[in-house]
Amino acid sequence: MSDETTPANGLSGARVVVTGGTRGIGAATARRLAEAGAEVVVAARTAPTSPEPGPGRFLAADIASPGGVATLARQALDLLGGVDVLVSNAGGQTHRPEGVLSFTDEDWQHDLDLNLLSAVRLDRALLPAMIAQGRGGAIVHVGSNAARLPRPASLPYTAAKAALTAYSKGLAKEVGRHGIRVNVVLPGLIRTESLDSRMAALAGQAGTDPETVLDRTVAAMDIPLDRAGTAGEVAELIAFLVSPAAGYLTGSQFTVDGGVLPTL
Ligand SMILES: NC(=O)c1ccc[n+]([C@@H]2O[C@H](COP(=O)([O-])OP(=O)(O)OC[C@H]3O[C@@H](n4cnc5c(N)ncnc54)[C@H](OP(=O)(O)O)[C@@H]3O)[C@@H](O)[C@H]2O)c1
Repeated sequence: MSDETTPANGLSGARVVVTGGTRGIGAATARRLAEAGAEVVVAARTAPTSPEPGPGRFLAADIASPGGVATLARQALDLLGGVDVLVSNAGGQTHRPEGVLSFTDEDWQHDLDLNLLSAVRLDRALLPAMIAQGRGGAIVHVGSNAARLPRPASLPYTAAKAALTAYSKGLAKEVGRHGIRVNVVLPGLIRTESLDSRMAALAGQAGTDPETVLDRTVAAMDIPLDRAGTAGEVAELIAFLVSPAAGYLTGSQFTVDGGVLPTL
């Protein structure tokens, strides 16, 4: 994807893979990129159930496993004929209110596989072809502002996302000379299906309703904009970062959290 092959601020003809592209931030990103003219493949474990056609072609893959990533990479390259943009978005957390010492090796391995190694493995599988085609390209890894605000009850997730940020910087240094840019997006509290089900579970325990729990969460997090963000607001940032308009941005982290993270 170079300035010569894509119109300014557009992604016409760009071949895109979005992991976790069936719900939440990933689905909003896939929609936004398809609207910008990209050819999009979305990957997740389960096919979308909506009768509406999705924004891209669906590939079933469990990206927490090395085999799932290898299959996804092979199928995406076959379907698209190459990849210009990769959005490694799928992620999730093991939550243990009992605290840090209650996480097992399996918990740690699961959160590292899903939130760090999935992106590492997918980059490793797709980058040789991206480099060989000589058109440049863009990669966005979706991290979390939690990487800089560790919470004991989800520490493996937090640690994996922090490692993802460090990994992304090193990768950006290595592939920059091929015109491939790598950036990390750090969302804060974003209204998605997964957040809604977490709010519903907490509401059940507290004997209240999910909206009240969400309001309390926003207040407890002291979010300067005083609300949760939307998946569309994160998608907008990702769409900018993978577009030619962001041509001199690489090795950077971009927070979209309503102003929560401190400056340093
Ligand atoms: N929402 C927030 O408040 C928030 C805040 C900070 C960071 N983030 C990060 O933003 C990203 C997206 O979050 P979200 O809230 O939009 O998530 P979500 O609504 O839970 O959607 C997750 C997506 O990832 C897919 N997925 C999950 N596990 C997978 C696996 N093993 N293999 C393949 N696909 C998998 C899901 O589909 P299947 O279940 O069918 O596989 C779904 O498409 C994550 O990396 C998350 O850590 C979110």
